Amino acid sequence: MDPVSIPKLFAQGADIPVIGFGSSQLGDCAEIVARALELGYRHIDTAWKYGTEEGVGKGLQLSGVPRKDVFLTTKVSHEYLRADDFARSVDQSLERLRVDCVDLLLVHWPSVDNVPLAETMGALAKAKRDGKTRHVGVANFNIAMVEESMRLCPEPLCVLQAEYHPYLRQTKVLNFCRRAGLIFMAYCPLGRGRVFQDPVLAGIAKKRGKTIAQIALRWLVQQGNIAPIPRSSNPKHMAESLQIFDFSLTEEEMNRIHALARPDGRIANPKGRAPAWD
Ligand SMILES: NC(=O)c1ccc[n+]([C@@H]2O[C@H](COP(=O)([O-])OP(=O)(O)OC[C@H]3O[C@@H](n4cnc5c(N)ncnc54)[C@H](OP(=O)(O)O)[C@@H]3O)[C@@H](O)[C@H]2O)c1
Repeated sequence: MDPVSIPKLFAQGADIPVIGFGSSQLGDCAEIVARALELGYRHIDTAWKYGTEEGVGKGLQLSGVPRKDVFLTTKVSHEYLRADDFARSVDQSLERLRVDCVDLLLVHWPSVDNVPLAETMGALAKAKRDGKTRHVGVANFNIAMVEESMRLCPEPLCVLQAEYHPYLRQTKVLNFCRRAGLIFMAYCPLGRGRVFQDPVLAGIAKKRGKTIAQIALRWLVQQGNIAPIPRSSNPKHMAESLQIFDFSLTEEEMNRIHALARPDGRIANPKGRAPAWD
């Protein structure tokens, strides 16, 4: 099968494949990542915290896909937001990934130790100036924190990575990203599996001859400016999640999915670490 060609989103000079491949909880994932690249994924999401950087690096090498063709994202964990720790964490990530430079470096969660945001943003910008990442951004920041980061960071931010799926309303954050020129990178796009029991999504999927995963991912992508990063260890699922560019949902279908949002829909909400969400 020929690899699928995936459209891109653009922000601040970054061009990011609209569907990425999540790698949390995949353990020693070299073969899975190589398979994802073979299928056509060109955007891989990892983090120091996931313990998958080594697997992602090996997978990249195994696949034979040229480094320049893959958009590689990693993240610095909230424990390492002081400038020295930050720089060390980035160096470790690059070593584990077996690359000189990633495409996107994100602050994974806001500080819980009152590390001044200016110090972290300085360290993030320095990583870019030192050639260790091509682009920079943040994850799990609320709007006020992103605005402050944009003010403090000497380099432009191009991404906010945050949770988004049919059970979580993110209209405010999405509108903010559009206004601010940031791509919204959507994690847990399948609600970590929760969407698969949903009767509304099942009904739309059946009518369209698509799967629930394809409907949920299409709903995200069709809103514009959103890059979901589904994770899978199953090559059939991995292939399926790329087949979402040959159909559109109607406005009525989009609205029915928007209506699934519920107040307790958030999945990633670690006590003591999560900010006051918008
Ligand atoms: N920045 C952050 O703080 C943060 C937090 C959470 C996640 N993330 C990133 O976002 C990625 C995705 O989020 P997630 O891993 O939590 O959850 P997710 O992608 O919403 O859901 C993963 C689950 O969906 C299943 N699945 C995937 N594709 C499928 C398909 N086409 N059909 C049926 N089942 C399918 C997988 O099972 P199978 O393996 O059986 O396919 C897995 O159980 C992570 O891997 C990580 O890279 C970032």
